[in-house]
Amino acid sequence: MSNYHIKHLEEYFQVYRKSVQNPEAFWEEIAEEHFVWRSKWDRVLSWDFTKPEIKWFEGAELNITENCLDRHLPTKRNTTAIIFEPNDPKEEAQHITYGQLHESVCRMANVLKDNGIKKGDRVCVYLPMIPELAYTVLACARVGAIHSVVFAGFSSNALATRINDCDCKMVITSDGSYRGNKTIDLKGIVDVALEDCPGVEKVLVAQRTGGKVKMKKNRDLWLKPLLDNAYADSDAERMKAEDPLFVLYTSGSTGKPKGMVHTCGGYMVYTAYTFKNIFQYRDGDVYWCTADIGWITGHSYIIYGPLANGATTVMFEGVPSYPDYGRFWEVVEKHKVNQFYTAPTAIRALAKENLEHVEKYDLSSLKVLGSVGEPINEEAWHWYNNNIGRGKSPIVDTWWQTETGGIMISPIPYVTPTTPTYATLPFIGIQPALMDEEGHEIMGIQVDGRLCIKFPWPSIARTIWGDHDRYRDTYFTAYKNKYFTGDGALRDEVGYYRITGRVDDVIIVSGHNLGTAPIEDAINEHPAVAESAIVGFPHDIKGNALYGFVILKEIGEARVKDNLRKEINQQITEHIGPIAKLDKIQFVSGLPKTRSGKIMRRILRKIASKDTENLGDISTLLNPEVVKEVMDNAL
Ligand code: WTA
Repeated sequence: MSNYHIKHLEEYFQVYRKSVQNPEAFWEEIAEEHFVWRSKWDRVLSWDFTKPEIKWFEGAELNITENCLDRHLPTKRNTTAIIFEPNDPKEEAQHITYGQLHESVCRMANVLKDNGIKKGDRVCVYLPMIPELAYTVLACARVGAIHSVVFAGFSSNALATRINDCDCKMVITSDGSYRGNKTIDLKGIVDVALEDCPGVEKVLVAQRTGGKVKMKKNRDLWLKPLLDNAYADSDAERMKAEDPLFVLYTSGSTGKPKGMVHTCGGYMVYTAYTFKNIFQYRDGDVYWCTADIGWITGHSYIIYGPLANGATTVMFEGVPSYPDYGRFWEVVEKHKVNQFYTAPTAIRALAKENLEHVEKYDLSSLKVLGSVGEPINEEAWHWYNNNIGRGKSPIVDTWWQTETGGIMISPIPYVTPTTPTYATLPFIGIQPALMDEEGHEIMGIQVDGRLCIKFPWPSIARTIWGDHDRYRDTYFTAYKNKYFTGDGALRDEVGYYRITGRVDDVIIVSGHNLGTAPIEDAINEHPAVAESAIVGFPHDIKGNALYGFVILKEIGEARVKDNLRKEINQQITEHIGPIAKLDKIQFVSGLPKTRSGKIMRRILRKIASKDTENLGDISTLLNPEVVKEVMDNAL
């Protein structure tokens, strides 16, 4: 039996038992046998969820890029590491071998060093899904710089907030990006952001679209000539297991985005181990995750997890609808993809289109289908299973978070029997608990509660950049000695978990986490707006969409209001990005509030979802009369 690669259900139960009975011994064996370390740890784990402080493999030294690149060179120099599939299918795909990837990462590492980047510096990466993105992320890791990748759909405002929060010295971007038939001027967005970022000394610019850009003297440099002139080898920096590897921002229910900090050792071990098992990856397979590297799914399961296993991973620049709705399946056929990992929102969007888009292509290479980012509804699950998997490829519904670094609850394909909409069993080493609102653990089966994790796993985020108190308050104070996920879940009669959704003010729209507070802040800055409240409501494709209740300073005419709706969405686009735009905007004269002045979102959620049969007791509100008005005019 191999603890590293689980192939039978019996084995899963045995290994799981081991991993929770003696976690230190278990993870020590995995870490020792499957990774290269410059020096070994003094201690496998020390932890205290009250401080909170979590350390894995303390005292060990390594460089994650030696595990992702160098160690594969003797056997895989000519094996494809990354297949780059461009936005335009007429442009040829690139097959980047481990040898070539190693060389490009080394060159990039030298460029970083030549431009003043040292171990511990923060580098902001604002790039489309082009090979330079992978080179940059890995080069940061190689020199010990902390990468902060910002999804290239965020606005200049959102970018500036993230750059300043972790004090980046450098930004790496491109002239522009392609998304379907659109071209986006990324460098222009960076230029605007940097007007508010005094700490940024250098901007490196990759060329992708050939669009016109302004290069600022002494700050901006074209990347290509630097790479061409850089030395093609570079020693990897010795990193401590607990040194930060990257910061990645995620939305909170209040305040500014949280820079989750992941560290080198534990993150590497856990993402590699989960990748191997949850995708049942075998040498020679071609694996494709459609996420963007700007999100955690791309970090862990396009770059680090696959490369640590010497896998072939596809990087796709485009969108599922371009040039038509068959694009995903065309790519699957073209590269003979074996494992395919996407989000329910994409599945729902594609399921709405004609089946011919699927039937045209040979999907027989597929062995495993994955889903991530939000609950997958029954209809989408069956469509995916019947039409893409042809009933033969198990679906792994993987539940996890930016904070968890790797997949936490998921079937293991060909091992765990699947049930639609259930993420099924905790992965090896993961100890979930369901809690009631009084803070007690709910035992037994057929119960539901708030999902917590009782024991640390190697890739748990160690802090929020610059705000350890917020880290403690957000995740470790609601339930004593437990990590609180912010999600609700139920456990069925066989012990399978089904994630029911967020229990806080984070709304998941098309798989993207959006906090309500920053959107409300953006709207409230509009001169005509007095106050606003955002809630989610069910949407066929996006899962949830956003509904805004807005109080205007003065009541205007209908025509003016229509313009205002546009302006409010424009305001949101500028402050956050188009992903946070509102589907519905209702102007109201007041918002239902408690006597202490808190907006009763529960009531607004029900109104937005057209579920007003049972609003609960509203008599204790400060302004119960406003509920009827809001309800009568609901959109
Ligand atoms: C939700 C994405 C149901 C959940 C990896 C979580 C899911 C949040 C699933 C984290 C799933 C993710 N089923 N819900 N399989 N996967 N979620 O940080 O609410 O972007 O807390 O990480 O997405 O989103 P994040």
